[in-house]
Amino acid sequence: MTRQWLAVGSMIMLSIIGCSSKSDSSSADGSSGENDKPVIGFVQTGSEGDWRKAHTVSVREAAEAAGYELRFADGQAKQENQIKALSSFVAQGVDGIILAPLVETGWDNVLEKAKKRNIPVLILDRQVDVKDDSLFVTYIGADTYNEGRLAAEWLIEKTGGKAKVVELQGTPGASPTINRYNGFRDVIGEESGIEIIASQSGDFRRSKGKEVMEAFLKKHGDEIDVVYAHNDDMAIGAIQAIEDAGKKPGDDIILVSIDGVRAAFEAMVEGKLNCTVECNPLQGPMAFEAMDKILSGDIGDMPKKQMIKDEVYERENAKEVIDSRKY
Ligand code: AHR
Repeated sequence: MTRQWLAVGSMIMLSIIGCSSKSDSSSADGSSGENDKPVIGFVQTGSEGDWRKAHTVSVREAAEAAGYELRFADGQAKQENQIKALSSFVAQGVDGIILAPLVETGWDNVLEKAKKRNIPVLILDRQVDVKDDSLFVTYIGADTYNEGRLAAEWLIEKTGGKAKVVELQGTPGASPTINRYNGFRDVIGEESGIEIIASQSGDFRRSKGKEVMEAFLKKHGDEIDVVYAHNDDMAIGAIQAIEDAGKKPGDDIILVSIDGVRAAFEAMVEGKLNCTVECNPLQGPMAFEAMDKILSGDIGDMPKKQMIKDEVYERENAKEVIDSRKY
């Protein structure tokens, strides 16, 4: 694979130097980049919450700063839309593709199409599970398994290892859902006194998080000590459900979630959320730094996975850091 992208990269470098981008010469639909800029097709999952908005903005801004033309496709939370958009970018003969895959599986065929056209694909944010790793160049994103572990470690410390937990899972089949589910369980293990009494998907959405939490409260009522939410948006929905049930979020029920968006920091400052494990959405600059290398054929030492480091924030220190938050 390396040699193939190297060949593609050198061709592109030559054409850029010669003031003619690859898209000028090889677009299947005859389209070309604005002002000879290299063209990148970006396939986003959708716009399910605050994190995703920050992610899209980061990619758009980084593309502009790095001198690319970005063609944006919103998958609207459907894998079939994402597959169609990918196929269309391949048909357009873009110079590269960035894919934030909604779910982990089902990408082999469409990635084969990109490979056949020598269009490099960078996987961003969520991971893919494909038979042949050479179908993409690199993955850039958070270590979502570790995020699940960090949430569990924090919880054990906070509760002394004894609590009844309800879990709000993300989108079924999405890599952060799978990894945050497994990472959390691998730390709480079978011997700790942490017990997961209910677990259901809230699809990474605030409204769904509220709806599922209302059902949890109806069924389990006073039994619930802790909410573990796979993202902040669902935790915020759960906070609303807890308040509607006449309880105090953060005190009567502990909440730990993942992302570190501004609304989570505001909830922590208000005392309603106890902890958020950061998942940094500002991935655009890293993506385009990698894309520069890919298109210039400089991928010799590029790792297959490039993970962004996460921090843990608690309500006790939220006030000090909220003004320095960038998303
Ligand atoms: O893939 C990252 C996850 O997707 C974020 O945690 C979540 O907020 C988003 O929907």
